[in-house]
Amino acid sequence: MKIKNGSVEKILPNLEGLIKIQHKEYLIPYVLPNDEVTFIVKRKQIVPIKIERKNQLSEIYQTPLCPYFGECGGCKGQHIKYEYQWIYKTQILKEKYEVLFPNLKIEQVLPETLYFYRNRMDFVVNQNNVGLRKKNSYSEIVDIKECKIQTQLANQVLEIFKNLLKKFEIGFDRNTNQGIIKYITIRSANQIGIILTIVKERKNTLYFNFINEFLSELKKNLVVFSLYECYSSLQSEVSNTQENFVIYGNKFLDFSFDDLRLKVPPEGFFQPNPKVIEIMMAKTAKFLSNQNNFINNQYHLVDLFCGVGVFSIYFYKRFPENIKSISGYELTKTSIYYAEKNANDNIPNKQKLAFINFKVLDLSKRFNIYLHNHTFLILDPPRSGLSKSVIDWILSNLKKIEWILYVSCNPAKQFLELEILKEFYDTVWILFGDPFPQTDHWESCILLRKK
Ligand SMILES: C[S@@+](CC[C@H](N)C(=O)[O-])C[C@H]1O[C@@H](n2cnc3c(N)ncnc32)[C@H](O)[C@@H]1O
Repeated sequence: MKIKNGSVEKILPNLEGLIKIQHKEYLIPYVLPNDEVTFIVKRKQIVPIKIERKNQLSEIYQTPLCPYFGECGGCKGQHIKYEYQWIYKTQILKEKYEVLFPNLKIEQVLPETLYFYRNRMDFVVNQNNVGLRKKNSYSEIVDIKECKIQTQLANQVLEIFKNLLKKFEIGFDRNTNQGIIKYITIRSANQIGIILTIVKERKNTLYFNFINEFLSELKKNLVVFSLYECYSSLQSEVSNTQENFVIYGNKFLDFSFDDLRLKVPPEGFFQPNPKVIEIMMAKTAKFLSNQNNFINNQYHLVDLFCGVGVFSIYFYKRFPENIKSISGYELTKTSIYYAEKNANDNIPNKQKLAFINFKVLDLSKRFNIYLHNHTFLILDPPRSGLSKSVIDWILSNLKKIEWILYVSCNPAKQFLELEILKEFYDTVWILFGDPFPQTDHWESCILLRKK
């Protein structure tokens, strides 16, 4: 193993520093521009040995709030002042968009809250440790007392859980395959949702005693909460699985989004920082309301990757005169069940709509959704972006799809997909938003209008 040495040229959108040595590029986490880094490459991983910082007191550096920063694989930017995190994350894409659409102003929504904002964290349990996986080491867990980006209430739950886990010693042990609890997921809705991922066959008296004590501690400390267990096999590393059971509280979590109240199954997706997305959607709706060729027409709204229906219900409520029907498609069965309920609960004059139709569908496989003329399509795919089948389906329905609102948690992938769509659609609105400060993630939202 050769020791290498180089200077950080710049910080990339993933918040890692770029070092070039003899035409080879190395990405180093947790550094600043001009840092001198001595490192080795061990099994394709970069292991820094020494970092000499020139910018310690510069305008870029800040002392990380979290004591686990640099070890825990969660955050990547706590050592960079927020203004710079945002520039590093978005600058390259912003410049690309400016070249492509020189007449379009890129709007942005920055977070008001830089810490304690996330409404969901999935913590790994290993023996008596509860935490997140170590950066670059999937098998190692950083034991965490408090997570600086999840809500304070969730941190209270984490503390209660950790104390009892130690007392009962029922954490799963990945070396010996002994133990029961593999993960704890904490979700901060209008009430707290706690989901324990367990090895079902191992449920025993010790576990029941643990649950009783956990419940009584939670009741002492929280006003409203629900507790669930869900099941995992010995080998699986999936948390918050779909096979679940309510131990205490409601079957669903109750989230707010703007003026909507939405039911979400414990395993179903909901925006991790809805406050920022609410502002992004409000700005987008305001822009649409000023587009004569939108507000003077009526559309069938089709929401792909709809989750519990938040975007279709939201846009219907903003444009009740312009939307004739709502359909939504999504993989998680229980999310679809609640999407229907949410539409019923939140749409007062449903009879004005031709139909509301939410359906389970795997959008990664070839599919055919029949479309009416004048479709307003909403897309909000997972990080992998749009599958080939979704793109092919759009291309075979160009005549019918008039507007596309594409919300993305992978803006770089979205930009590549736009290369295909821009031949047929004008990009009329670009909005960058940051629901994920301290991390390298962010969201972008674009509006496309049929040429
Ligand atoms: C980024 S979330 C958006 C959900 C929703 N728009 C919202 O804001 O709550 C992506 C959604 O896509 C769903 N999904 C993931 N893979 C899918 C697939 N292959 N087919 C259909 N839906 C999928 C997920 O379950 C998740 O609800």
